[in-house]
Amino acid sequence: MSTCQPHTLTQTSDLGLLEHYVKKILAAPVYDLAVRTPLQVAPALSALLGNQVLLKREDLQPTFSFKIRGAYNKLVQLTEAQKARGVVTASAGNHAQGVALAARQLGIKATIVMPCSTPELKVVGVRSRGAEAVLHGVSFPFALAHALQLAEASGCTFVSPFDDPDVIAGQGTVAMEVLRQQQGPLDAIFVPVGGGGLIAGIAAYVKYLRPQVRIIGVEPEGSSCLLAALQAGERVVLPSVDPFADGTAVAQVGAYGFEICRQYVDEVITVSNDQLCSAIKLIYDDTRSITEPSGALAVAGIRNYVAQTGLQGQTLVAINSGANINFDSLRHVAERVAAQVVS
Ligand SMILES: Cc1ncc(COP(=O)(O)O)c(C=O)c1O
Repeated sequence: MSTCQPHTLTQTSDLGLLEHYVKKILAAPVYDLAVRTPLQVAPALSALLGNQVLLKREDLQPTFSFKIRGAYNKLVQLTEAQKARGVVTASAGNHAQGVALAARQLGIKATIVMPCSTPELKVVGVRSRGAEAVLHGVSFPFALAHALQLAEASGCTFVSPFDDPDVIAGQGTVAMEVLRQQQGPLDAIFVPVGGGGLIAGIAAYVKYLRPQVRIIGVEPEGSSCLLAALQAGERVVLPSVDPFADGTAVAQVGAYGFEICRQYVDEVITVSNDQLCSAIKLIYDDTRSITEPSGALAVAGIRNYVAQTGLQGQTLVAINSGANINFDSLRHVAERVAAQVVS
């Protein structure tokens, strides 16, 4: 487990930054489209790990991931002129579906660039919601470069999947729900990290209201861009990213998110692809629901963290962030779990 503890909170922390985001989060009209998802006890996982584990079921959103929150919050705040010109975005697939649904709801034309490796069901999820899907590049950074060019050439507004204050605020509504749903003990929230929008929104809200709750980021070993940035003290570009956890296969953390994370995220840990496969099974055992690899990051992170630290008797929240996995990929997940049991 790689780990980084960037900062201990002090009285001198930049509360103005947090307050700015908390106000935006409270004002975000995400429930025009998003739903308030359950925060549900995972009994088997809790017994296995000796801690109460609560799952925030963002896989139950209309697009099967939390991304609808940030996408809608961004699009709804565009000016009428911007709405008339349309939007362009780049996405590993879940933001894409959020933008597509939000754009349809608001009558905005949307063009969405996704890497060629994007799972088929995410491409179908975009097209079936009326947006134009352009498949470009081997991974997210190439799709992003192409989307920026398209936006420049067309005059459409570029909607970042994570590096935008309105997107971050939309994602932060997850934390608003968690704190309302769990008013009793709450020791830590484990958050999957791609470009850092979700964890930034969650950290901003939680550290303003309940700063003693630890915020722990979880990244795949093959795309740990937040950990690399915290260790370097600045945003770095990873030379390559592993596409297995496609939703979080990002080479560079966003600038807005990093400003929050470097001050308010307590720790960042990484997990292997095999640990993600095991976590998908553990979530299935408890809920009979399937998560995608990125959606299982938080549970994989809790499991690693408890094994490494011996933590017991605490209340730990895992953000189950998405469920968009191709059905036939489940064969690979099951094989990796079986191989770990044998070895
Ligand atoms: C399922 C899932 N989990 C987590 C994330 C990470 O979100 P962020 O890029 O805001 O860090 C993503 C991003 O697309 C995702 O699709």
